[in-house]
Amino acid sequence: MAYAGGNPVERPPLKRLPKNRPGLSEQPALRQVMAQFATGVTVLTVGGEGAHGMTANAFTSVSLDPPLVLCCVAKAARMHASILAEGSFAVNILASDQQSLSKYFADWRRPDGMAQFDAVGCTPGAKTGAPLLTGALAWVECEIAQAIDGGDHSIFLGRVVATNRGTGEHALVFYGGAYHQVEGQARAA
Ligand SMILES: Cc1cc2nc3c(=O)[nH]c(=O)nc-3n(C[C@H](O)[C@H](O)[C@H](O)COP(=O)(O)O)c2cc1C
Repeated sequence: MAYAGGNPVERPPLKRLPKNRPGLSEQPALRQVMAQFATGVTVLTVGGEGAHGMTANAFTSVSLDPPLVLCCVAKAARMHASILAEGSFAVNILASDQQSLSKYFADWRRPDGMAQFDAVGCTPGAKTGAPLLTGALAWVECEIAQAIDGGDHSIFLGRVVATNRGTGEHALVFYGGAYHQVEGQARAA
């Protein structure tokens, strides 16, 4: 079912900018700074007529009670319209040996619709029908609780409706603009 909540593409009224606002030339610095924050890698998937998948590392847990997560999707991405139309999505948390999947779902040349999953093992999620990628570390199925304007992205707050854990042990990590695999012994937190 399509998300019927607020309008995520609505922009706030323009405000007078502060005099010391960083110039556009400083924008790459933010990218470089954020690249120092190591993240996992996910593929967001949507089922139904607008089936689609997209690599995303802007994903985080928000609340345990109620169970909420969020992901950020560029308004220019095909995934944006797809996720809004379906009103639900799945988050596939990639394992260390799934770097090729991350690259594939970030490549604009992949086919549209369900055809993009032909070369990829997947099963439909029980609650959302979103493709769950075989071999992922874990899967989170969500319904959109809220879509929030976030500049050139929308922040999709997802109400978790199903979770599952795979058998893999090692995560794919994105750090410094490159893929890494977690190695060595884990230490207790
Ligand atoms: C490691 C990695 C992480 C990414 N994270 C995000 C993200 O969190 N949100 C986003 O909108 N795009 C992200 N992207 C870019 C999209 O995957 C890419 O632009 C994709 O081709 C968009 O697909 P679409 O337009 O077909 O939906 C990421 C790409 C990579 C390689």
